[in-house]
Amino acid sequence: MTRRLARPVGITATGQHYPERVYTNDDLAQFMDTNDEWIRTRTGISQRRWVEPGQGASDLAAPALQMALDRRGMKADELDAIIIATVTPDTFFPSTACRVQEKLGATKAYGFDLSAACSGFLYALTTGAALVASGTHQKVAVVGVDIMSSIINKEDRTTAVLFGDGAGAVILEAVPEGGILDFEHFIDGSGGCHLFMPAGGSARPASAETVAAKEHFVVQHGQDVFKKAVREMAEISRLMLDRNQVSPDDLKLFVPHQANLRIMDAAAKRLELAEGRMMVNINEFANTTAATIPTALHQAQEQGRLGKGDTVVLSAFGAGFTWGAVLLKWSC
Ligand code: ACO
Repeated sequence: MTRRLARPVGITATGQHYPERVYTNDDLAQFMDTNDEWIRTRTGISQRRWVEPGQGASDLAAPALQMALDRRGMKADELDAIIIATVTPDTFFPSTACRVQEKLGATKAYGFDLSAACSGFLYALTTGAALVASGTHQKVAVVGVDIMSSIINKEDRTTAVLFGDGAGAVILEAVPEGGILDFEHFIDGSGGCHLFMPAGGSARPASAETVAAKEHFVVQHGQDVFKKAVREMAEISRLMLDRNQVSPDDLKLFVPHQANLRIMDAAAKRLELAEGRMMVNINEFANTTAATIPTALHQAQEQGRLGKGDTVVLSAFGAGFTWGAVLLKWSC
């Protein structure tokens, strides 16, 4: 059974924003025991961008959303709602949505943050689309943003090399046809022990002890996550095609979450994708968690790889475990 919205809702504009500072694999090898060859062959990553100290998620999210608004010719005060997918908010509260609303002057919008790690943007996208489809909201902004450099231990080569900072934004509106055609999302909390941040939440609040033990950083059991990610990303992407009777030849672009090129290639293989139909930006920006898919969409459009009416599959897998996929016809 497909999950069809009550009326067509599409992405009508995109935007992105990254920090200025680029860190190549060789730069990282200056201060941790790693090397360019290992990182590139195991992950597909060549470089990433990290913020300067003091920059928070809203500092990337606001300009990304402003770019999307400008491209749509829309004023911030036309927005009805702002949904921010992130696991690295400026602060637990107020939400990053509140900060972005204030920075942009989106005076008529309310908003909230949504936490689903690397699947966050897809969950936020379909949540925002449902608001528009219901008829109660006309113009909804969805932003995926993460400052992963704020939660990685730069002495831990098994995680630090994998992540970057960035933000991608989209505007959702009702469209005459096409837009989001189907989606599916899952969680499996039994995977929580394989990818998590041990402290800083209510169960283990910050203390001198947790800081000394470096418990405010990402912990990942790479191979356990890898195995599950390969299987689930491939399966859910294929599900989008099969249950909508879309043939791989009709798929213009596959935009997977960018955690590891090997995971992405496995999903592309399961989709029987033709050469050149998968969007890749992990080489340049690494894993920006909730920002990978909206930035990849923005870049695909900039590169002329996406046009109105094109069929696209988005899919993601991340901490939780969380995973999901969306089938859509491009609307801008
Ligand atoms: N440089 C050099 N060597 C390294 C590095 C590094 N940066 N990192 C690990 N190694 C070493 C290890 O110490 C190990 O050495 P050993 O054999 O002497 O013990 C060896 O390389 C192999 O390590 P593995 O962990 O087995 O490497 P693997 O091939 O599994 O790759 C990786 C690790 C890239 C993390 C992979 O497991 C992966 O991509 N996992 C999934 C990530 C993912 O999808 N995350 C979900 C999204 S993120 C989110 O939601 C926030």
